[in-house]
Amino acid sequence: MKKIILTGDRPTGQLHIGHYVGSLRNRIKLQNSGEYDEIYLMLADVQALTDNFDHPEKVRENVREVALDNLAVGVDPEKSHLLIQSQVPALFELFTYYMNLVTVARVQRNPTVKSEIKMRGFQASVPLGFFSYPVSQAADITAFDATTVPVGEDQAPMIEICREIVQRFNTIYGKTLVMPEILLPENKASLRLPGTDGKAKMSKSLGNCIYLADDPKTVHDKVMSMYTDPNHLRISDPGNVEDNPVFIYLDAFATQDHVDEYLKDYESLDALKAHYTRGGLGDVKVKRFLEKVLQETLEPIRKRRAILEKDPGYVEEVLRQGTEKACEKASETLQRVKDNMQMTYFKN
Ligand code: TRP
Repeated sequence: MKKIILTGDRPTGQLHIGHYVGSLRNRIKLQNSGEYDEIYLMLADVQALTDNFDHPEKVRENVREVALDNLAVGVDPEKSHLLIQSQVPALFELFTYYMNLVTVARVQRNPTVKSEIKMRGFQASVPLGFFSYPVSQAADITAFDATTVPVGEDQAPMIEICREIVQRFNTIYGKTLVMPEILLPENKASLRLPGTDGKAKMSKSLGNCIYLADDPKTVHDKVMSMYTDPNHLRISDPGNVEDNPVFIYLDAFATQDHVDEYLKDYESLDALKAHYTRGGLGDVKVKRFLEKVLQETLEPIRKRRAILEKDPGYVEEVLRQGTEKACEKASETLQRVKDNMQMTYFKN
């Protein structure tokens, strides 16, 4: 059986370093591993619209931004098809058929949907479009016969619902859909990067993100003003590395090479943590190290982004070709689905 990747981003804002460690970095590694037969990366504009329907211009602008972010981190159009969800009509036909296979109660139990409803103040009146996006996401995944869905931990409940749909569909209509597996980042610190203010999640509305497109000065300022251990007042005080975003970022980004290059007086990141825990190590020194690591990681991304920004025609062509390929693939799946559901009437 072919090994196929499908993953996606909601184009609601520029991507930040939480997206980078949570999914982009892994996506590039998988792309370049040569282990996958086909790779589809979706700009999920229809999903983004489910909670931004009153701001279509925001979604439209960010399709381009997120495409740029993906290309800048190393998505290679020769290996990965970058596609725009709204331009693949077969997805929405699949979505319609899958809706029969999921109950309202099942979606209500989805913890990610639950917390999103809360965050958006939708409690009393959830739009049906938003509520049903997990089913739409199952269409995104199965349309491409995806075997592997590399995503952050918050997406696990979506993949779970998708797997249930596949199971039910195949039981009722005969083996038709491919059962996908989730692929989480290996690095534990990458599962969910906190905001620079120490809040659980990096989010645009909280203003606690470091963006992939931030210039060096902005990255410097954001790192230097990061929240750390509030009880670590004097350098001599013992510090806590556990819920300390500076150390969580280091866990997610710093390699032994970074330690060897920028932290001459420490053997390893663990040695730095031990010193901080004991007391006697100031926040500024740790932040300076983090800044070097982040700047080194972001520099090549910024450079590629700057080049791509000057060539909008190229980006458009990448999206056009990726979307075309996606349409072919999704139509084949839809045909299989309709055949097995006895929903084809006219033979051509
Ligand atoms: N829900 C995903 C997110 O918020 C984006 C997404 C849309 C997606 N369709 C997908 C992810 C299909 C994986 C597979 O990040």
